[in-house]
Formats: sequence, C-alpha cells, structure tokens
Amino acid sequence: MTQRQKPTVYITRKLPDIVETRMRELFDAELNIDDTPRSHDELAAAMAHADVLVPTVTDRIDAGLIEQAGPRLKLIASFSNGVDNIDVDAAARRGITVTNTPAVLTEDTADMTLALILAVPRRLVEGAAILADRRHDWAGWSPNWMLGRRISGKRIGIVGMGRIGTAVARRAKAFGLSIHYHNRHRVSAETEASLEATYWDSLDQMLARVDFVSVNCPSTPATYHLLSARRLQLMQPTSYLVNTARGGIVDETALIKCLREGRIAGAGLDVYENEPAINPKLVKLASEGKVVLLPHMGSATLESRVDMGEKVIINIRTFFDGHRPPDRVLPGRN
Ligand code: DGY
Repeated sequence: MTQRQKPTVYITRKLPDIVETRMRELFDAELNIDDTPRSHDELAAAMAHADVLVPTVTDRIDAGLIEQAGPRLKLIASFSNGVDNIDVDAAARRGITVTNTPAVLTEDTADMTLALILAVPRRLVEGAAILADRRHDWAGWSPNWMLGRRISGKRIGIVGMGRIGTAVARRAKAFGLSIHYHNRHRVSAETEASLEATYWDSLDQMLARVDFVSVNCPSTPATYHLLSARRLQLMQPTSYLVNTARGGIVDETALIKCLREGRIAGAGLDVYENEPAINPKLVKLASEGKVVLLPHMGSATLESRVDMGEKVIINIRTFFDGHRPPDRVLPGRN
C-alpha cells in the first residue's frame, strides 16, 4: 500500500456517529449502518478483501476464518477490551496483528459491578418493579417491607485484580466492604496498602470466607469455569456472586443449581455462557428476585464507546504508520 492509499477497514457493527465519521475521513471504511450482526460467511468475505477487520465481542473470529483471510488482512483492531472471541494465536501464525481497547471502559464496568453488588442484596429491581406495575396497590412503608441485607461491614472477594478488579475494589472500600482478592500475581504493596486488601493465594479459601464474590478476570482457557460447581459450593449460603466479566468463567448450570438449592443467596449477572441466549432458569430466578440480570451493558456508556472507537483508530493509524500499535494483544495470552 502506498502512503496515499487509505486502508480498507471493515467494521462489523454500527459504532457511534462521531467514530464512524472520523473513520470515514481516515480510512476506506466499510460500515454496518443497520447494525445487523454479520454472519460467518459475511465475515469471511470481508476478511478476504479488507486490510483491517474491526470486530466486536459479538463476532467469533476463529482459526477457520483467520486461515481463510486474504493476503491483505494485516490487522484485527477489535472494538473491545476482551479478545476471547478472537483466536489470537491463529492470527499470529498468519502474521496478523490483533489489538484491543483496554483501560477506557474500566471505570464504567466497575460502576456497573457496584450497581449489581448493591442491587441484589438491597432488592433494587424487585422494589422498582412493584411501583412500575400499575396493578400493584402499595400499602406504604412497614418495618418488614422489602428487607434486604446490609452491604457495609461485609467482605468482598475479587477474582482477578487487574484494572477493573482494582477499580471495583476502590468503590467497594468506599461502601464499607473489606477487600479480599485472588489473582495470578499479587498487586503492588502500595495498591494493597491503599485498599487495605488481603491477598488469597487459594481461591477456594477466599470463596469460603467472603460475602460477595466479584468476577473480574479475563476469559481464557485457564479461567473457563474457574467458578466451577465445586468452587461455587464453597461459598457461604448468605453470599452473593456478581459477574461482569465473561459468562464462561462461571459454570452457569452449577450456579443455577446453587441458587435454587439456597447454597448461595443471590447473583447479579451482566454476562452469560451462551450470549445472547439466556437460560430460562435464570429468567425464572430473576422473577423470584434471586438474581438481577443485565444485558451485557457493563461498559455501555456513550463516553466509553467513543473512547473505544478512538483507541481503534489510533491502533489502525499507528500500525499503518509502520509502528507497533499501543494496544497490541500478544499471542499465548488467551
Ligand atoms: C469488552 O469490550 O470486552 C466488553 O465486554 C464489551 O462491553
């Protein structure tokens, strides 16, 4: 490609207008105006001719698709933080660079995690639904009305103390929770001190001792069903599980069983094992007030989406300027 030629950039979903406008200016951008998810064959056709693919978490870019990619495809600049939907190793074998959009959705995702931590034990959704239902005639306040469980003074166990886990810990501390965490590596002594955080080398031991479990680790083969049936059963019957990371990290069938049998008090979920399909048993538990279900909206703010778009643009431009893009995802990490 000569200096003047614009790279052909195929974007799989509709992005915020401001991002698309900038992409049109800078690239030969192929947009998805009506936001219909692209089929496997459409992705294959795009990867056969484009220089850059910009997928999102809803696209499965597996080894088969990558192996069929045309010789022009040199960059997969994902509009996402997580890249568990992309076979990064297969891309590396084909000489295709993969980038993501870390850091810009940390605070929004941590906010939503706290929203779920508050919503489940304080019965926020149940309470709001009562007044939204016109058939319901509310008789007014009474001492035993809508009793939930207190958050302050309890213990939270954070599984995965990366950017988002740390941001969750900062917020949880402000709500009076004591911070416990399990991570592949201990965080710095300074971070531990500022959060007054306790590190647990053993996930099993931490799970048995905390009141809230927040899942904040990336989805990798090593974290698949990390919260297995056996581990979920280690949790206390008064404890709550919140997952804003990826559905596959928790064994959903086992979680449903634990919730039904009262082995866990409740759960707040933003992500699911077979997204966008939701297990009907989870929907039933939601109708009984045992779980709060959100449709993968942890990072869904306009600000976050615009920042993600800017990151994608910077990654593409840096790459075509002949430099290493700032958010390169290295093979062997997912
Ligand atoms: C991501 O980017 O990984 C998020 O899950 C999408 O909101």
